[in-house]
This record gives sequence, C-alpha cells and structure tokens, in this order.
Amino acid sequence: GRVVVLMGGRSAEREVSLASGRAVLDALLRQGVDAIAFDPAERPLLELGALKPDRAFIALHGRGGEDGMLQGALEWLGIPYTGSGVLGSALGMDKERTKHVWRSVGLPTPDSMLLDSHHDWQNVAERLGFPMVIKPVNEGSTLGLSIVHSAADLEKAWELSRRYDAQVMAERFIEGDEYTVAVLGDEVLPSIRVEAASGFYDYEAKYTRNDTLYHLPSGLSVEDEAAIAELTRRAFNAAGARGWGRVDVMRDAQNQFWLLEINTSPGMTGHSLVPQAAAYKGIDFDTLVVRVAASASL
Ligand code: DAL
Ligand code: MG
Repeated sequence: GRVVVLMGGRSAEREVSLASGRAVLDALLRQGVDAIAFDPAERPLLELGALKPDRAFIALHGRGGEDGMLQGALEWLGIPYTGSGVLGSALGMDKERTKHVWRSVGLPTPDSMLLDSHHDWQNVAERLGFPMVIKPVNEGSTLGLSIVHSAADLEKAWELSRRYDAQVMAERFIEGDEYTVAVLGDEVLPSIRVEAASGFYDYEAKYTRNDTLYHLPSGLSVEDEAAIAELTRRAFNAAGARGWGRVDVMRDAQNQFWLLEINTSPGMTGHSLVPQAAAYKGIDFDTLVVRVAASASL
C-alpha cells in the first residue's frame, strides 16, 4: 500500500523535518514501497484523503505535526499513522506537563516551574538555583533554550524563549552526562551518550557541527544500562506514547538518572540518534524506516 511521508510543516523545526522526511522517503523508495512526500505547509491537509494513502509516516517535528493536532486530523481522515496518538503526542510536546505526569508516578525529573506573566525571578532563583535552564514549553531541537548562570541573564533568556512559545519554563540544571534512549515498538535500544564539543548540545551541535561525539556503547555498566532502559520504558508508557520515540536523560555525579523530555517524532536526519542506536543493534536505516512504517495505527 501507499505510504505518505508527512514532512516540512510550519514549525521552527521545519528544516530538520525536511531532512528527516527526505531520508525516510528515500529509504521507503529503496525498499520498493509506493511512497510520496506531503508537506502540510504547501498543501491543505484535507488533500491527503484524495491521495488514497494506506498509512502516513509522520516525519514532522514540533507544533502542528508532533503535538497531537495532525494526529487528530489523521484520526478523522481514517489514515493510520506512525508514532503516538493524540494524547501522547500532545503531552510529549509540552515539556512541563510531561514532567508533572512523570512526577505523579514517582519518576525522577528535575524540579521545574512554569514562568507565567507574573513570575518572580527571585523566587525562581531561590527554588531552582544556578545554573538553570530556561526553555520554551513546546519546542524541539534546543531552539530557544538557554543555560543561565546568574540572575542578570534570566530576563534575556526568558525573552529568547518567548520568541518560540508563549509558554516558558525554568528547570534545575543537572550537571553531568547526557544520554538518549530510543524506543522501537517493544524494544528499548541501547543508550547513546552525547558529548558536544562546546559542552552544550544545542541546535548547531545537533545538526551542523561535525565535532559532536556520539558514544555508543554509551559506557554505562550493565546494571546502569538496564536501569536507564527500564526508566525509559516507564517514562514512555507514563507519557502515553506509542510506536516509537526517544527519551532524553541526564546522569548526575551521584549516578542518579533524571528524565528531561520525550520526543514522540524523533529526528531521522543524518545526524540523528535513533538511526544510530538502531544501527548498533544491527537494524539498518531502511529496516528501521520499514519497521516504523509498518507499526502505523489508528
Ligand atoms: N526534535 C528533534 C527532531 C529530535 O528530538 O530528534
Ligand atoms: Mg526534544
């Protein structure tokens, strides 16, 4: 059957999505699948039905594609789609509410708070301390995120985040190592430790620089690898995620893991992490794409 690869869109992660989408489309075509690209920024989504797709591969990132909106439209159109449903997608896009859910089931995630229009910086600083992370609640690829080291820089960081989202949050910064763990159906893939040359795994370190190190195997002990996999599985399930995704985790100096966020439509670019973890497990890129496409559901 025909697979429509949804890519592009209007979010700030449009360019990342186009790279993910092209890679997915090429893989499907190499595998002899009848696949076509569809950019919701260029055509009304309602034209999708006329293409008579059997399923949709969502390679969109960010708002409008990863946040439940598109998933709801596909439900209405009756087109099975990859990844999480409406609730899991909507929750996963909202970094602050995801953390509320994780806390409610006892999963570890750094203290954080929403910065409403009446926020009091002194109170925020006393509660979270420095360094502190200021970021848009609904965004991806580290866009609009700052690591703030002193009170003098808080307002500037907040203003940067506000350019991306009306909702901004502050989170305690975890000093330590950064890991990411992919979920593929019932499988949790091996963790990757990410090490940015600048010390900050930002948009450039993710997509444009070539000096980011991806440690795979990540160097965790057998016990810690089992623990991070279990934590990831529980975080994925608690967030109502489905199909596939990626959970970002910090490990502090006391060897404690902290959940940062879940990505329900992970990047599939040449620099992206899920394809690397899959390859390490012997699942090549084409096989990964075909497996995700096959898991599409309503
Ligand atoms: N938000 C980007 C695409 C990722 O998580 O891979
Ligand atoms: Mg993300």
